[in-house]
Amino acid sequence: MVMFKGTVKTLPPDKSISHRAAIIGALAKGTTEIQNYSKGLDNQTTLAVLNQLGVDVRQTQNANGNQVVIRSNGLWDLKAPINALNCNNSGSTIRMLSGVLAAQPFVSRLIGDESLMKRPMRRIADPLEQMGAKLKLSDSDTPPIEIHGKKPLTPISFYQKTPSAQVKSLIIFAGMHAEGTTEIIEPIETRNHTELMLGLIPERREDGSNRIIVNGPWQPEARPFTVPSDPSAACFITALGILSNNAEICLKNVCLNPNRALFLEVLREYGLKLPIENLREIGGEKVGDIVINQEQLAAPLRIFGSKKVAGLIDELPMLAALSAGATEQFELHDAKELRAKESDRIHAMVLNLRACGYECEEYEDGFTVKKQNSLPKTEVDITTYSDHRVAMSFAILDAATDIAVKLDDPNSIAVSFPNFFDIINSLKV
Ligand code: S3P
Repeated sequence: MVMFKGTVKTLPPDKSISHRAAIIGALAKGTTEIQNYSKGLDNQTTLAVLNQLGVDVRQTQNANGNQVVIRSNGLWDLKAPINALNCNNSGSTIRMLSGVLAAQPFVSRLIGDESLMKRPMRRIADPLEQMGAKLKLSDSDTPPIEIHGKKPLTPISFYQKTPSAQVKSLIIFAGMHAEGTTEIIEPIETRNHTELMLGLIPERREDGSNRIIVNGPWQPEARPFTVPSDPSAACFITALGILSNNAEICLKNVCLNPNRALFLEVLREYGLKLPIENLREIGGEKVGDIVINQEQLAAPLRIFGSKKVAGLIDELPMLAALSAGATEQFELHDAKELRAKESDRIHAMVLNLRACGYECEEYEDGFTVKKQNSLPKTEVDITTYSDHRVAMSFAILDAATDIAVKLDDPNSIAVSFPNFFDIINSLKV
């Protein structure tokens, strides 16, 4: 039986924080130094698009990892792009940058790969149009997005019905370019990296919602950022350790922002220990080392409730595969948003778990895994829909259980975790 043992110091830098550091760097006045910027394709896409918009972006490798330096004259330093801005697979790039482009005195056109061209954009067009920009989408409200910017934008009060950190962030970026006070009410909290990085302190209201205020126009000064390791990447290696039952793994310098590390809390509710060492704070973010020592999942995970789902949104495919692999069962409800990710992740997980011999039932907002009817005797062909998180979930089942899989697009993993297979191989004893 394979054992996984070792200390991982090279988890990818956090994808969400890397995107934001680059965008904030382009808007801030002065020189922004970003230590440990992610080399994942999504984050490299954000740099490439900023470059196309005339931003001075330099990337170098130094002793502390990958460093990005951005020089900007501030809010109005972007230049009209000559060509369409290709956001590839990155929903964060297309959505968060739209908040900035909506405020520019020029027209931009944003496109992406096959998956991005299917993703819903009405959620960003509506608030940005209320602020005065014009956005043209396809007939099915997907990209290409043509943005006719407006300078200055008009502030709005935005009540966020569907939890989304991307939408919240793009309104913050647009609000920085507006004349007056933009207000965002968030009834269900989502990841708050943008607020932490900009020093925005939300007001916690009596009903439990957050109120975020941006007084525009607001010109931030450049400041340095250090990007911790990505908890969503850590979740895959944590699951590898749990599924293999006998692992001894330490994942270093992981971002433990409570909106991102909820998977650890949930697993602890199911009796796992998963202690944290070296807990500290870097740039307002909690950071620590996750220890996975002989952990086992004894009871199936049952996940429901919009608050929990929002905090686990990127971890749900792996948690489903983990629970199925360890207990043959899993249950998920209130997660309709999962259908609007890089793929329809409810459909993708059900299809592939069935191929792995599990009996599943699919609902509009989730699915259940009931039992494993039979262990596949041969390699299972996995349809990843070129979705990195679907691909990694099944690659972990392959590495840590008796199920053997063949991914139709293993290259999709490089979107967020380019050294995924290297890390798994380095941990094998
Ligand atoms: C992200 C927010 C989430 C998440 C995505 C990254 C971010 O998307 O799924 O991977 O960096 O803000 P939504 O805002 O659509 O929930």
